[in-house]
Amino acid sequence: MVNYKDLGLVNTREMFAKAMKGGYAIPAFNFNNMEQLQAIIQACTETESPVILQVSKGARQYANQTLLRYMAQGAVEYSREISGGKPIPICLHLDHGDSFETCKSCIEYGFSSVMIDGSHFPFEENIALTRKVVEFAHQYDVTVEGELGKLAGVEDDVKSDDHVFTQPSEVQAFLAGTGVDSLAIAIGTSHGAYKFKPGTDPKIRLDILKEIEEKIPGFPIVLHGSSSVPQDLVKIINENGGKLKDAIGISEEQLRLAAKSAVCKINIDSDGRLAMTAAIRKVFNEKPAEFDPRKYLGPARDALKELYKHKVINVLGSAGHAYDK
Ligand code: G3H
Ligand code: 13P
Ligand code: ZN
Repeated sequence: MVNYKDLGLVNTREMFAKAMKGGYAIPAFNFNNMEQLQAIIQACTETESPVILQVSKGARQYANQTLLRYMAQGAVEYSREISGGKPIPICLHLDHGDSFETCKSCIEYGFSSVMIDGSHFPFEENIALTRKVVEFAHQYDVTVEGELGKLAGVEDDVKSDDHVFTQPSEVQAFLAGTGVDSLAIAIGTSHGAYKFKPGTDPKIRLDILKEIEEKIPGFPIVLHGSSSVPQDLVKIINENGGKLKDAIGISEEQLRLAAKSAVCKINIDSDGRLAMTAAIRKVFNEKPAEFDPRKYLGPARDALKELYKHKVINVLGSAGHAYDK
């Protein structure tokens, strides 16, 4: 058993309390490899933003749980090196935990926060599973995110076309029955690069968010599926041999509004995938003789870093808040 505190990591409690007070959201960026981790830590340390490093079950299988633990520990030291003083607050979070066992294992490997995603279970089962995770996690001061409602889109290769919006009438009972530290809600965001049908009005249900906030004032809300799918990146991909048709995301304006509200954590994965893919496709297309991975992973890392800086400065508003008292 490794405790996250010994790795220099923090849980989400203080991060969210400050984000709620300051009217911004903490970035939750997914990572699977070293270049993504470097880009996240460089961008967030240089802009002085707290950050949640997010690892899915698939990412854990891809990268290896032991390597991940050392990578997260390394990220703290790397941030210290870049800042020349204190590292930014870094949380290591399990994204979409599917079972008690996965959550327990992550906690034992040094995660400081876990999500138990019981959203596909009936309400009472979701509560029972989530409560079991909370009871275990809180013994180690690990924070827990639960979810109510269902997002459309692709998750661990399972595709769902239907949103089931979170019902504001259920949130108080869910919080009371589980003891979770934050709540992910479904208000029309979805996973992946194809969030809306072409020709429709791509809007999320900020009205439902408002109703939820009124039921649980001051409680940290999480938004999944919050990539904006920048069209300049889609264009670069398609101009360099890619085939992404009708990829549409959430407008930055709507995310900015959400970040100012009780939304304290905004999950972004697909935009990073697009930034990396665009940069790599460009190198492959323009320099077909290149075969040193550093020559395409390097530009991909630089593009990712710029994307993350843009997010924390212009969309989430978390830049400059890393060392707030
Ligand atoms: O919500 C899903 C995240 O984007 C992680 O995706 O399960 O393919 O790693 P993944
Ligand atoms: P995107 O696919 O919109 O980036 O969402 C990521 C996410 O919600 C991870 O949990
Ligand atoms: Zn998600």
